[in-house]
Amino acid sequence: MIPPAFLQDLLNRVDIAEVVGRSVTLKKSGANLSGLCPFHAEKSPSFTVSPTKQFYHCFGCGAHGDAIGFLVEQHGMSFIDAVQELAGQVGMTVPEDRTTPQEREQAAAQKQRRASLSEVLARAAEHYRRQLRGNQRAVAYLKGRGLTGEIAARFGLGYAHDGKHGLASAFPAYDDPLLEESGLVIVKDGDDAAPGPHPDADAAPATAPRRYDRFRDRIMFPIRSVQGDVIGFGGRVLDRGEPKYLNSPETPVFVKGRELYGLYEARTAMRERGHALVVEGYMDVVALAQSGFGNAVATLGTACTPDHVQKLFRFTESVVFSFDGDAAGRRAAGRALEAALPHATDTRTIRFLFLPEEHDPDTYVRECGADAFEEQIARAVPLSRQLIQLAADGCDLDSAEGRARLVAQARPLIARLPPGVLRGQIVAQLAETARIAPSELGETPPATSGGAGPAARDRAPSREPRRSRRPLATMASSLDRAVWMLVQRSELWERLGHDAHDLLSDQPPPYGDFFAWLDRIVHDQGTLAAGALLDEMSDAAAPEAFGALAARVRQFHDMPVGDEAHVEMGVILDRLRLQLVGGELELMLESGGAQSDEARTRQRELYRQQAELKKRLATAPGAAAH
Ligand code: UTP
Ligand code: MN
Repeated sequence: MIPPAFLQDLLNRVDIAEVVGRSVTLKKSGANLSGLCPFHAEKSPSFTVSPTKQFYHCFGCGAHGDAIGFLVEQHGMSFIDAVQELAGQVGMTVPEDRTTPQEREQAAAQKQRRASLSEVLARAAEHYRRQLRGNQRAVAYLKGRGLTGEIAARFGLGYAHDGKHGLASAFPAYDDPLLEESGLVIVKDGDDAAPGPHPDADAAPATAPRRYDRFRDRIMFPIRSVQGDVIGFGGRVLDRGEPKYLNSPETPVFVKGRELYGLYEARTAMRERGHALVVEGYMDVVALAQSGFGNAVATLGTACTPDHVQKLFRFTESVVFSFDGDAAGRRAAGRALEAALPHATDTRTIRFLFLPEEHDPDTYVRECGADAFEEQIARAVPLSRQLIQLAADGCDLDSAEGRARLVAQARPLIARLPPGVLRGQIVAQLAETARIAPSELGETPPATSGGAGPAARDRAPSREPRRSRRPLATMASSLDRAVWMLVQRSELWERLGHDAHDLLSDQPPPYGDFFAWLDRIVHDQGTLAAGALLDEMSDAAAPEAFGALAARVRQFHDMPVGDEAHVEMGVILDRLRLQLVGGELELMLESGGAQSDEARTRQRELYRQQAELKKRLATAPGAAAH
């Protein structure tokens, strides 16, 4: 990336009339210049160049852009080449930036590697699926657990047979390093060529004496990314055996703290049912789907992380965590609560379901039926109550000591909640239970009128990105503009990166919802043509607010060309960041300023960020345009 400030500088020095004038004959026409449009065939000039705005625009075909865009569109140059060319003309040097050619090369190589891994994993999944069809014992096992062939097919379940080199039949090059990298094959190091833990009669291909399949004699659960690519496997023993489940190791495509089993399969049902169900096991997900709860997902044998929760909230506004009714389940619930806290904004619901002891969702739904499970969901405990229960764990509320302990245990939990009405409510409830004033919980009491959110005191504000609570009249036109550009060029979305995705998806309605929706569409269907997207936005199935948004953004009707749109998005994102930083600083000041070392450090950091963003924005291209 070339710094936006440099581009602005460059565009200020280049004369667009001269650049365009080299290939188009321009005549003065009022304050502008006009000529025959180079982008479409025409007899009378509808192509204008504005020397003051440094833009060209064609009223005939809508072609539009700056000097860089002109070189890109007219001469087919790459964006970088166009910048280099123009910089050379005005004697500027393009700054070496964060992304060097090597870094770009590395990124490309990494992308290629991920694609190769996905291919290998997909082929393995197909192989395991075929093996399942041919194995009576494995099929009988799944039938015995109440699964139909239809559900097994939906989750792509498979079987890895009991041989050391079962995958060799699917991968003729069994020594392909990708097999090891994808975690499918284990390469035994050391110089002993002794047989692996599974000595059997299989003849090892002569080329790979010390390689063997990781998964042997196991039911295979392919784990898919949101996009539907196989990224890893969980494998269950059929009978007794250790470990009960064997999982793929982490690879560049498989990060356990971020992926959820069943998410790809559950997306539609999550939308239909209006909530996601988070359970603990692979079998729970599959069994629930079998019983009509297609909206279930599971963590991958790890604790639930904030990343998991954030991912879910891209698809739904409501999450129900389900836990087994034993001590382990309660511990897991505590961790899930902590992971969920930073995402508990006022528009979301988070609830906790505890099954009777000895049950997991799989056994429960099979023994007690779907209706009973439905009732369990209806009775799930809201986050506010769960938080207080967790904080009160082991506290004798009849004693002053117990109540003090409650407060001490509650403080770190509250600190993780984003500011908002919910947080104020929880603080008020806790204060009542602890028989103290809300201010003693380090919070100012909720305002008596206007319902302003509580403010932080005596502690550094949470570092989680917060949803700004102020009306965004000033940002609305920028956000409209961002919507328009992304509708026109949905491939831009993927170029923005995760930080930007989160920032945009956290904006207030209808924007945040729109960006989250766009994220899903781009994930599910790839990039779409502008018309198709606008149609989908106005579709009856889309939220009502999107229709109004579509109507509003259509008024921009220019077509962002080349990298211009990317640069403009960068400016809008910086404005949003500046607003976020400003909001947090204001909150700090409102609550009496930074009073701890941690808060002071944070405050300094915020001021630094604020200064940097302001500087960047002051020199950004189009700074005056909006
Ligand atoms: P459970 O032991 O509760 O298994 O582990 P389960 O899902 O009820 O499985 P069934 O019903 O016996 O088939 C829950 C989850 O913990 C992880 C897996 O993700 C499993 O689904 N796990 C469990 C492992 O990764 N390794 C193990 O050895 C056991
Ligand atoms: Mn189970």
